[in-house]
Amino acid sequence: MKKIGVLTSGGDAPGMNAAIRSVVRMALSNDIEVLAIRKGYMGLLNGLFQEMDARSVSDILHRGGTILQSSRCAEFREEAGVRKGVEMARKAGLEGIVVIGGDGSFRGARDLSLMGLPTIGIPATIDNDIACTELTIGFDTALETVKDALDKIRDTAQSHERCSVFEVMGRGAGYIAAYVAIACGAEAAIIPEMPFDFEQDIIKPIMDGKKRGKENNLIVVAEGVGGSVELAERIEKATGVETRATILGHIQRGGSPTVNDRMLASRMGIHAVKLLKNGIGNRTVAIKNNEIVDYDILEGLSMKKQMPEEIMKMAKILSL
Ligand code: F6P
Repeated sequence: MKKIGVLTSGGDAPGMNAAIRSVVRMALSNDIEVLAIRKGYMGLLNGLFQEMDARSVSDILHRGGTILQSSRCAEFREEAGVRKGVEMARKAGLEGIVVIGGDGSFRGARDLSLMGLPTIGIPATIDNDIACTELTIGFDTALETVKDALDKIRDTAQSHERCSVFEVMGRGAGYIAAYVAIACGAEAAIIPEMPFDFEQDIIKPIMDGKKRGKENNLIVVAEGVGGSVELAERIEKATGVETRATILGHIQRGGSPTVNDRMLASRMGIHAVKLLKNGIGNRTVAIKNNEIVDYDILEGLSMKKQMPEEIMKMAKILSL
């Protein structure tokens, strides 16, 4: 393989730049040219290409977001769009592509591979919702961001003896919510993976805590459950405890990546290029037991990710 492309797609995630850097430098050190494709699949369809050299990825390791920018591209979900993508890649002399993104982006990667253009997926999303990998790039950094915010909310909740309902991202998954609930000592984590009972799981812990002298409460809600403003109103009504809702939003997607995310991205980028160099496409890179591995994209996408039961139990026990 003499020339490959790299793009970032879907929601950005801290560490995407580290992955781009790793792909570019690993390729160059194997005498493979790299074309960056800007703005995701939309850029592929519109020929937004940029030659990369080792210096093109200088000073990006510590930056959040993606220097290549990203998009969610409806046209690329159609067969005609994928065919056009393959043509554009061929015209530019690309023999393979590395796609850095979430599961929606992987579907595009699989379609490109099936149309004859070897493509490798690198999992990057703050949601950590890709089943075949234990961790996705960006999750660790998002946890740190949310932890900082939640610690601050705790300060003000304590000063005013309030309950705070705090909604975090994660799409249909509750990983961010469950992990920060444990790390920040929340009274409850309301996540899509676990049914909850308003009286038992929220009101009872608040009232029991009150009797024990607890002066503030944190309830973390995953966006996949949502409704945090209404939930705050219901809690205030049922407990008499003044309650505020905070929806943290896109701040969770930004910021300088943690060491763990930079390492993960660097390792995955190297692995992706190794696969392409060996003429292998239609694979997604993943981490399992701290080993970088790869799976057939379709197989990876069809796996089911389960929230570890231990995490769910911990959240309940420690909120006492
Ligand atoms: O997938 C990452 C994510 O931030 C989700 O947590 C959230 O549901 C979604 O993207 C938000 O997407 P957008 O940037 O289009 O608002």
